[in-house]
Amino acid sequence: MKPVRVVQISDLHILPEDGQMLAGVDTSLSLVKVLDDIKKLSPPAELIIASGDLSDDGSTQSYQRLHDIFDTLPCPVYVLAGNHDETETMLNHLLAEKTFYDRQKSLGDWQIIFVNTKREGASYGFVDDDEMRWLETRLSKTNQSVLLVMHHTPLRLCASPTCQMQNADQLLKLIKQFKQVKGLIAGHTHNHAEEVHGDLRIMTTPSTMVQVTHNQTEAPKPSEEFWAHHQADISRYGYRLLELTTGGAITSEVRWVDA
Ligand SMILES: [Fe+2]
Repeated sequence: MKPVRVVQISDLHILPEDGQMLAGVDTSLSLVKVLDDIKKLSPPAELIIASGDLSDDGSTQSYQRLHDIFDTLPCPVYVLAGNHDETETMLNHLLAEKTFYDRQKSLGDWQIIFVNTKREGASYGFVDDDEMRWLETRLSKTNQSVLLVMHHTPLRLCASPTCQMQNADQLLKLIKQFKQVKGLIAGHTHNHAEEVHGDLRIMTTPSTMVQVTHNQTEAPKPSEEFWAHHQADISRYGYRLLELTTGGAITSEVRWVDA
């Protein structure tokens, strides 16, 4: 069986009005640039995964605008909510014939499982007990290779609590009991990173609008602003290309589009 080609985009932060800017970027135009690059891939992607913070403000208008952008794509898009998203509004206004919110997707001889790390009202990630049990059940029921998708990463890439998943250790302990889990992709950090934990590759993926450097090495003081230890880079937009191979190997690269 030939490898399955999948693309991950993340942290789109689409705004409600045409021409609006966030951190000096028109987030719809930057997304369109990224998608234009994805459309040129040969062989083409079979599936696009959009791993949260699809909207910046969770508004109906932002999801309607994104709906129209996704409508131009030749392949299905699977979406997941991030901390900026309003899940119900997203489901009502973004889903379409080829835009899905499914928690598990069979692709080739792989299973792609979407895990909710969003906690209402919080920027940080958290996988609650119900979601943990749900994931354990799903993993117990498959022997196929698994790619997990989440908005927040369990990697600790920054000392700022808002950049982290609060119960990352608990989640990783569960996942590592299942050797068929070969990959975990996430966003939220607006940055790319990769760690190999035994059989498991954990990757984060750049944003389609602004990249962030995380220099927070100690927990921030209460008065300290987020940007005191983080730098924004709006010179390029990124996405991740993955090839899922029979036998559980993953080939992956981050691809960049100049602003
Ligand atoms: Fe986020």
